[in-house]
Amino acid sequence: MTARVGVLLSGRGSNFLALHEAMEQGGIPARIVLVAANKAGAAGLQKALELGIATEALPHLGLERRAHERRVIAALERARVKWVCLAGYMRLLSPDFVAAFPQRILNIHPSLLPAFPGLDAQDQALEHGVKVSGCTVHLVDAGLDSGPIVVQRSVPVTDDDTADSLAARILIEEHKAYPAALRRLLTSKWRVAGRRVRFG
Ligand code: GRF
Repeated sequence: MTARVGVLLSGRGSNFLALHEAMEQGGIPARIVLVAANKAGAAGLQKALELGIATEALPHLGLERRAHERRVIAALERARVKWVCLAGYMRLLSPDFVAAFPQRILNIHPSLLPAFPGLDAQDQALEHGVKVSGCTVHLVDAGLDSGPIVVQRSVPVTDDDTADSLAARILIEEHKAYPAALRRLLTSKWRVAGRRVRFG
């Protein structure tokens, strides 16, 4: 069965494209049926349009969180979305939003969580002086980058790294990790036990 996936993003959308391309290549029983953004000018929306994928611009400015989230949830429900992939979506989801798609919301974060949640993860990693960083795909709970981990991929941090050079190295791994995580969740038996995603 092909899972209907909705992508939420705020910016350039390279992780959305990586997911889309991996689905096109086969092996992930899923299809992106909607790309929604909280910023009308998000480059990711334009890319979705070019690919013929349905889009919704749902700006949050001037709306209370609940009112905005109700619009986003309504758009996802209209598109009959079963899985939600956050791909650079710069909004924290409320418990109500998370409850609308229980254990069906994924996020990707550019650090090895639980290290460096929140904004500017690559700056945080450099500031801390870690020698290894990476990315994490996790199920979303109501906390900040705190849900059960599905896939992580690591990269070295070099002495001459800047936030940009580290971000670029991590992004290459993000584009592998996100499709891998979705593939695994859609093609294996799994359950959440405490904080752990247990496969098989
Ligand atoms: C990625 O680094 C992702 O980990 C973070 O936001 C960035 C989004 O990049 N959550 P893109 O829009 O997918 O290119």
